[in-house]
Amino acid sequence: MLQEVKGTQFLTALREGGSLPGIVEADNDGTYVVKFRGAGQGSAALVAEIVVGELGRHLGIRVPELVLLHVDAELARREPDQEVQQLLQASTGPNLAMDFLPGSVGYDGIAWRAPAEEAARIYWLDALTANVDRTWSNPNLLIWHRQLWAIDHGAALIFQHSWPAVDGWATRDYGLGSHVLSERVSTLKPSTLESLDAELAALVTPQALERILALVPDDFLESMHSTNGADPQTLRARYCEYLLARLAGGRDWWPESAA
Ligand SMILES: Nc1ncnc2c1ncn2[C@@H]1O[C@H](COP(=O)(O)OP(=O)(O)OP(=O)(O)O)[C@@H](O)[C@H]1O
Ligand SMILES: [Mg+2]
Repeated sequence: MLQEVKGTQFLTALREGGSLPGIVEADNDGTYVVKFRGAGQGSAALVAEIVVGELGRHLGIRVPELVLLHVDAELARREPDQEVQQLLQASTGPNLAMDFLPGSVGYDGIAWRAPAEEAARIYWLDALTANVDRTWSNPNLLIWHRQLWAIDHGAALIFQHSWPAVDGWATRDYGLGSHVLSERVSTLKPSTLESLDAELAALVTPQALERILALVPDDFLESMHSTNGADPQTLRARYCEYLLARLAGGRDWWPESAA
């Protein structure tokens, strides 16, 4: 299970973020970046944060710790900003929170460049999960203590919004040419890309995916817009099915096999 904490103080809204994430202090003295369940896009983005973030961690990518942060009516009541107050009121219960990395800076590929193999790991995760949200205009990578950290996976798993035919999704190219790390990946030898692909693919087992999907609370799955009445356990199995199909689908989305 993900650790559960209680929000004790709303510190500030991250207004550049599309979904109005906030920095919140919790009862374990931790500080977190919180994605709220009550934000307009619904809870699907929170499901993607957990599935893709934890899958990334499983693949050896640094992802800040994810926890469930509970918002109560009192936290909302104490908030003076009306927009934030409404968001908190609409988000009472569990929300998705990521450990805040103090002093981190956004990746710009200039001051510090990602090691190529690490870049390729992140690229592979993004290609598998159709994460189109790691471009130069929105890198969603942080540098912290001279290491690369992947954040913001809410736009990935695009299939979860409409559940298209699994075969079409499995082979679809999401055009990762503008991916912020593609230039780093292209410096690797084909043989290195091939063995990395084999290593990562072997890690994405049904058991690993089931363990990761079990981390997603029922509450998030139930409040998605696109469930068509499916229960949480059916939805968890469906995520596994879609990811395994994409893995088995020839991996045309990986540069080594496109070469
Ligand atoms: N764990 C973290 N530690 C430090 N800063 C963070 C962390 N997570 C996010 N941020 C900062 O907050 C910004 C917004 O976060 P994030 O990208 O996750 O939100 P978002 O609403 O999905 O944003 P957008 O739609 O603009 O990509 C990030 O660009 C980054 O500057
Ligand atoms: Mg972002």
